[in-house]
Amino acid sequence: MSAQGKPSARLTVRKLKEMKAKGEKIACLTAYDASFAQVLDSNGVDVILVGDSLGMVIQGLDTTLPVTMDDMVYHGQAVARGVNHALLMLGMPFMSDASVEKAVENAGRFMQQAGANMVKMEGGADQQELVTSLTRLGIPVCAHIGLQPQRVHKLGGYRVQGREQAAAEQMLEDARVLEAAGADMLLLECVPEDLAAKICQQAKVPVIGIGAGNACDGQILVLYDILGISTGHIPKFSKNYMVENSDIPSAVKAYVDDVKQGRFPAPEHCF
Ligand code: KIV
Repeated sequence: MSAQGKPSARLTVRKLKEMKAKGEKIACLTAYDASFAQVLDSNGVDVILVGDSLGMVIQGLDTTLPVTMDDMVYHGQAVARGVNHALLMLGMPFMSDASVEKAVENAGRFMQQAGANMVKMEGGADQQELVTSLTRLGIPVCAHIGLQPQRVHKLGGYRVQGREQAAAEQMLEDARVLEAAGADMLLLECVPEDLAAKICQQAKVPVIGIGAGNACDGQILVLYDILGISTGHIPKFSKNYMVENSDIPSAVKAYVDDVKQGRFPAPEHCF
């Protein structure tokens, strides 16, 4: 049931797994308000992420680190009002999962106050205990590995992850451990395409890529990047869909069609 007491027609974790099994690509985008969420929802987007990227594209910050739980709940509630068909995923902001207790309380807030269907959490195998605890409580988790923007200072910048053999082996292990702990989906950011392909082959759960090549089970991009309105550095893995489309719904639809047909990402978007 939805928060309004209507039966929910949103896509489920089970359906996402079926899509992977059938080789049906999963189209995902971020959104931060009800109006854009409604456009995405009615143009075939399967998963809508309220990401802490809102710190950069909405709040004009340099990193996602200052984004708070209250910011996320506020935008999550707004987006939830525009979503009928897509699965709604909310990203846990920096420090909201600093301990198992905090993660359980904050993920619970996303489910109860913002109507989330899944939470996304950055981190590798070291997040195993958190994923197990959330899974035990029935909270679906998407584990975000590869480039983790909340660790930008530790990583020394926004750079491709897993290029060296040891790092690649560690990422395969992270994916395995997180899935075994109960993660229902994996998200790979800025990963060489051959490594991403191995992770997709190993995983039984859907693997969504952003800058992770075409073998992934689905793709995600930041909405403002595909609409050409992000300022500053535009990542190589993104594409401005407003160049060939005259309105926002058509741009969203073109992105969804490209993902579904395997046309996006093209070789020039991959590492
Ligand atoms: O926060 C976010 O929007 C994300 C995407 C870039 C995947 O994590």
